[in-house]
Amino acid sequence: MGMELTTIRDVHKHIGQTVRIGCWVHNKRSSGKIQFLQLRDGTGFIQGVVVKNEVSQDVWDEASKLTQESSLYVNGTVREDARSQSGFELDVSGVEIIQVAVNYPITPKEHGVDFLMDHRHLWLRSPRQRAIMVIRAQIIRAVQQYFDENGFYLVDPPILTPSSCEGTTNLFHTKYFDEDAYLTQSGQLYMEAAAMALGKVYSFGPTFRAEKSKTRRHLIEFWMIEPEMAFVDHEQNLVVQERFISYIVQNVLVHCRKELETLGRDVSKLESVTVPFPRITYDEAIRRLQENGHEITWGEDFGAPHETEIAQQFDKPVFITHYPASFKAFYMKPDPNRPEVVLCADMIAPEGYGEIIGGSQRIDDPELMQQRFAEHELGEDAYRWYLDLRKYGTVPHSGFGLGLERTVAWICGLEHVRETIPFPRLLYRLYP
Ligand code: 4AD
Ligand code: MG
Repeated sequence: MGMELTTIRDVHKHIGQTVRIGCWVHNKRSSGKIQFLQLRDGTGFIQGVVVKNEVSQDVWDEASKLTQESSLYVNGTVREDARSQSGFELDVSGVEIIQVAVNYPITPKEHGVDFLMDHRHLWLRSPRQRAIMVIRAQIIRAVQQYFDENGFYLVDPPILTPSSCEGTTNLFHTKYFDEDAYLTQSGQLYMEAAAMALGKVYSFGPTFRAEKSKTRRHLIEFWMIEPEMAFVDHEQNLVVQERFISYIVQNVLVHCRKELETLGRDVSKLESVTVPFPRITYDEAIRRLQENGHEITWGEDFGAPHETEIAQQFDKPVFITHYPASFKAFYMKPDPNRPEVVLCADMIAPEGYGEIIGGSQRIDDPELMQQRFAEHELGEDAYRWYLDLRKYGTVPHSGFGLGLERTVAWICGLEHVRETIPFPRLLYRLYP
C-alpha cells in the first residue's frame, strides 16, 4: 500500500483511477451489505462505498471497525456521481486503519455552546467550522492580494508596547523586565511612522483589548488589518476602504461558493456589496435614529442597537462620518470648517454586524498634536517619537483598521464572533 496520497479536493483529476487518501471518518451508515463512509481529509468530504460482495472479508471487517473520527488510509476508485454533494464517490477497495477512535465526544446530536467551546479543538473538524476557517483563510488571501496589487508594503508593528493607542481603559498590562508594558491595542501609531518611510503600508496582526464586554461582537484577542497612507485625505481614505471591502467580498463569492452554501449564507446579500458605499454624517445618523424612536442626543456615541438601526436602512456597508471629537481618539484631525467634529468614518456592515472599520485622517500639525497630548494627559515622553513624525516633514495622511473577525462573521452570516477565529479568547474563556 505504498501508493502516493491524493486529496479529496483533487479527486476530480483521477476519475476512473484508483487513489489513496489519508482521512477521518466523519460519519458512517451501513445496510448490512454496503457500508457508506462519510470521509473527510480537511480539503473536503467524499462518500466511500464498501460493498461486501466486491471486497475481501478482510477489508469488510476493517471497515466495520471504523467509528466516528477514526483515522485511516483508504484506497478506492473515483467515480463521478451527480447526486452526491461533492460530485464524486469512492468505490473502496482497501482500508488501512491508523486508529479507531473510541467515544468521540461530539456526536451528530445537538450540543450546547459551552460544551462545544470546551471542545473547540475537536469542534473545528465539523463541516460548518471547517467552512468558516476556509472562508477566513480566503479573506486573508484577498486582503494580501488587494494590497499587493495596489502598491502597499506589509509592515509589522510591535506587539509589546510602552504606551496606548486607543485609550488606556482596556490595556493588557505586563512587565517588560523592570518596565511596564502593554499588549498592543492597535499598531496605528507605528504604521504612521512606517507610512512616512514607505508611503503606503499595511499591517496585519493580533491586537488585544481587555474589554469587560460580553457581546457577540467583542473578542479579547482579535486580528486587525491597518493600512496607513501618506498624502491621502479623509475623502480618499473612504474610496480605498470601499474598494478594499468590495474586493474582499467579491473574491470570497468567487472562491468559496461551496463553503457559503454549507453555512446557508444568503449570497444575494453579498453580491450587492459593490462600490460606491453610502455615506452619512454623524449628524444625519442622529437624526435618523431620533426619527425611529431612539433616545440619543448629539454628542453621545453609538451602541450596537444604534448601528443596527442605521445598517438596516441600507443594503451595503454604510460610512458614518464626522463624529464629535469629544469621544474619538486623540489623533483624529478636526474638520477645518467645524472643529467640534473630526475627519473620521466608521464603516457599519449590513444586516446588524456592526462596525467593521474605524478610520480617520490624522492630525499633521505639530502644535495641535502637542495640544491634544495635554488635553488627553498623554505623557509626552512616551510619545516623543510620534511627535517627531509631525516635526520632520509632516504630511497629510490617513488610515483605517479593519477587524478580521467581525468581517468573517458578516461574510459568513454568523450569530457570534466566537466561531470566526480558531481559538477565541473571550471574557472568562482562555481554554482550550
Ligand atoms: O475602531 P478601532 O478601535 O480603531 C483602531 O484601533 C484604529 N487605531 C484603527 C486605525 O485607524 N488604524 O478598531 C478597528 C476595528 C473595529 O472597527 C472592529 O472591526 C475591530 O477593529 N475591533 C474589534 N473586533 C473584535 N473584538 C473587539 N474587541 C474589537 N475592537 C475593535
Ligand atoms: Mg471604532
